[in-house]
Amino acid sequence: MHGTVPNRTKYHAVSAVAAENPTMTDLVVRRLLVDMEAPIARLWCGGDAFRTALFNALSMSFPVGEQFFIDAVRGGFKALPEDQQEKFRTEVQGFIGQEATHRRLHALYNGHLEKLGLVNDWEPRARARLQELDGMDPRHHLGITAANEHFTAILADWMLRNADLLGGSDERLTTLWLWHSAEESEHKSTAFDLYQALGGSHEWRITWFRRVTWIFLGDTLRQTINNLRRDGTLWKFNTWTSAASYLFGKRGLIRQTYKPWREYLREDFHPNQQDSSLSERWLADNASRYVPVGA
Ligand SMILES: [Fe+2]
Ligand SMILES: [Fe+2]
Repeated sequence: MHGTVPNRTKYHAVSAVAAENPTMTDLVVRRLLVDMEAPIARLWCGGDAFRTALFNALSMSFPVGEQFFIDAVRGGFKALPEDQQEKFRTEVQGFIGQEATHRRLHALYNGHLEKLGLVNDWEPRARARLQELDGMDPRHHLGITAANEHFTAILADWMLRNADLLGGSDERLTTLWLWHSAEESEHKSTAFDLYQALGGSHEWRITWFRRVTWIFLGDTLRQTINNLRRDGTLWKFNTWTSAASYLFGKRGLIRQTYKPWREYLREDFHPNQQDSSLSERWLADNASRYVPVGA
């Protein structure tokens, strides 16, 4: 992310989109009842090298990414005029609580990956890039967070719709991924609404979205290949037939997420326009797998 510090005058007043979507979300922080101390199998995702490497790559990006989202949302909240803070207070607390929990569990997950000999190159790269954003207007941090949150929300919806692709061989990891997906879908509006409330412009929202897309796809690909290389499965024929099928096949990740990805470019887009019913259903059907914190 090498953008110059933008001119504040590019921002316009709070948009009509925000005014039309005043819905605040009740975000529950949940303690997941999974044992993340137990080791992770090398090919935990149904024995499939490509999917295992891809999901492991995503997990590697979460601790640094989610800390940035937490800081961005916290910074955006503080930048709000005091009379608007009350409206956001509970949702912001819920968002931070949910992301902090994801962060913690994925850090444990990544510790196991390290023991398997995988090396997280994504995290230091992301850290260096994020450092360049220090001192920027909080709306930029929020614009980047909202873009990433859209990405994670559509990925989450794809995962909830295709839960069998998690392989089913490690019930604990299946639960972890689906719980994380359900909560991503649940809090997908928080950063976006704060961005709008602070008068963030459509132009910058799209600019960040395009940059985040290229960076996210590039980093995902690099880390997935890195994981496959270290696992010794990069040059196996099965790895690439699996990749073709899980990216471009009928239920392929890229094929099924392109349309919702594109929606974000619309000027009247709001994350709540995208369906969250799979998230709600998973949380209702799996209530025995978590304990609401503070309940
Ligand atoms: Fe998360
Ligand atoms: Fe999130």
